[in-house]
Formats: sequence, structure tokens, C-alpha cells
Amino acid sequence: MANKKISVIGAGAVGASVAQVLAIKDLGDIYIFDIVEDIAAGKALDIQEGAPHWGFNSKLKGFCTKDEKEYENMKGSDVIIVTAGLARKPGMSRDDLLIKNVGIMKDVGEKIKKYSPDSIIITVTNPADIMAYVIQKASGIDPSRIIGLGGSLDSTRFRTFLAEELDVAVQDVNAFVIGGHGDDMVPFIRYSNVSGIPISDLLSEEKIEEIVKRTRFGGGEIVNFYKTGSAFYAPSISITVMAESILKNQKRVIPCAAYLTGKHAEHYGISNMFIGVPIKICENGVEEIYDLKMNEGDKKLWENSVNSVKNNCKIADDFLAGKLN
Ligand code: NAI
Ligand code: 2OP
Repeated sequence: MANKKISVIGAGAVGASVAQVLAIKDLGDIYIFDIVEDIAAGKALDIQEGAPHWGFNSKLKGFCTKDEKEYENMKGSDVIIVTAGLARKPGMSRDDLLIKNVGIMKDVGEKIKKYSPDSIIITVTNPADIMAYVIQKASGIDPSRIIGLGGSLDSTRFRTFLAEELDVAVQDVNAFVIGGHGDDMVPFIRYSNVSGIPISDLLSEEKIEEIVKRTRFGGGEIVNFYKTGSAFYAPSISITVMAESILKNQKRVIPCAAYLTGKHAEHYGISNMFIGVPIKICENGVEEIYDLKMNEGDKKLWENSVNSVKNNCKIADDFLAGKLN
């Protein structure tokens, strides 16, 4: 049987790192694209040279997209992972990247439309919910085939911090984060538990609040260590679980940025935009969106996050309409 094909746009810290994790897990052949000359080809070869030790069958190739025609090589991709664009430096929020990355996403979306419109897309570039929105507009792809990274990463951070505090195995911590992948994301405390035991039975309110805060600023915590860029190890694993669920039709339920319409839009109070909610991920992308019951406290936090996503989508729209420089 032929290997699956995965294209990774952007061969920077996240792109290269996810390519390596995908290869180690033998999930398919990996085609890496970057606008900077030789970088994608170099990363592909470097990862490929580890194959004999690990025994993976993935074949990796790299392409420079300065020549637009090189995008032709993404034709027939099962999954396309978009990581191209600028990353944060200390003092910047994800939203500060908005204007800079919108133009790149528009271009990448148009190339996807031209060369591989039947793929499932995972958008990573920040601010992730808004970049998913831009890619959808530019590519015209059915929005259920586009999934944004955010909750998958934020939830693994939340689970890590809870497990550390409680000194329990991480796999027994079930906890997730919804909302936009920004500073007002919503760690969903009421549904968080350790093997079924609610975390509110195990930790004080103050401790939970401390962990929630650390989760919200988890991305910034790493930026402050790295100084020149943002996280890529946990992101690459968080992307890989999403890609694996698509490639193997695993039907994993993971919070990710999904496009809300109809009854889901009504339930969550945001329509025709992407925002983090629990979804079932299958070979066709988003198979199901789960409408979470929220109490008044949850709703207040949720609305904050919704408002940020709405505002940022409006900025992206204005920029694309030439109303901003
Ligand atoms: P990086 O700077 O290491 O790599 C970005 C790469 O994109 C560079 O190699 C650059 O040459 C390439 N690039 C720029 N414009 C391009 C274009 N038009 N076509 C092709 N390639 C292009 O950045 P890093 O750390 O890999 O992060 C990438 C993006 O992912 C950032 O926006 C970052 O904020 C975001 N991110 C989002 C996460 C999430 O949870 N949604 C998690 C981690 C990163
Ligand atoms: C993070 O949360 C960079 O958004 C990315 O680490």
C-alpha cells in the first residue's frame, strides 16, 4: 500500500519538528515547503538520515516555494500542515502576529486551492483561529476539512501542569481547554478530572486558578525562555496527534479550532468563524462538534474569548479588503 502523503508548509522550528515526529511515527511521506532557499531540502535530508536507526519508511523531500511552481509537489496530499509565518518574540502576543501572517496565509490558501484542494488542512500559524479563517477564505475549501491547532496544545499543557501538581500519571489527567488560542482561552475546569475524580475535589480554588493562569500564558512562558521564537516541541506532538487521527481515521476527540455554523454557531454564539471546541477528528476532517453545557461562569469566560476571535477576524477582513496597511 502506498504511503500517505503529508505536506508541511514552513520549515522553521515547528515545521521541521513536526516533520520529524511524523516520520518517527511512520505516518507517511513528508513533503516540506519553505520560501527560504534550501532550508526545506536540508531539513528533509537531515531527518531522512535518521531513518535507518529508527526504521521508519517515510520518505522526506524539501522544496523552495520562491518558485511558485514548486507548490505543485503538494498535489494529492492527504494532510497539509501550515506552519509558515512569523513567530512571537518576548513581549509579543499571538495577536501581534495577525497582520504580518494574514498575507502569508492568503497566499498559502490560494496555492492549496490550486494544487491540492482535496486535502485536509491543519493550520498552526498564529493567531491560529484567525489564520484558519483566512486559509478557508483564500482556498474555498469546505471548512469541515480545516482544523486549527490551539486546544490540542493548550490542553496538553494544562494536563502537564495538573499532573505535576498532583504527582499523578499524566495519562490519567483528563482536562481540556476551549476557546481561541489566545490569552483568554478557557481551561474547562468543571469537566477536568483525574480518572473521573473532579480536580475541584483534589485541589484548592487558588491552586486551580494558578494552574489555569499558567496554562493561559504557557506559550509566553516558553517564549521568555527561548527569547528568539516560540514553542515547537509540544506543538509538534500536538499537531501529530491531530494528523494521525485524520490519517488513520481514529476519531480522536480533541479540542481544536473548528468552523461553527448552524446549531453549533447558535450554541456557542459565534458563526462562520473558527474557535476551539471539542471535535471528533476523522479522515474527512471534523466529523462531529460537541456542544458543551456551560454555566454562567463558563459563559462569561467563553464570551471574552469569542469576542477576541470576532475582533481579530474583522481586522483580518479589513486587511484583506485593503482597509488597513
Ligand atoms: P519559524 O520562524 O521558526 O518558522 C517559520 C517558517 O515559515 C520559516 O522557515 C519561514 O521561512 C517560513 N515562511 C515564512 N513565510 C513563508 C511563505 N510565504 N511560504 C513558505 N514558508 C514561509 O516559526 P515557528 O516557530 O516554526 O512558528 C511558525 C508559526 O506557528 C508561528 O506563527 C507561530 O506563532 C505558530 N505556532 C502556533 C502554535 C499553535 O498552537 N497554533 C504553536 C506553535 C507555533
Ligand atoms: C504557543 O502557545 C506559539 O502559540 C504557540 O506556544
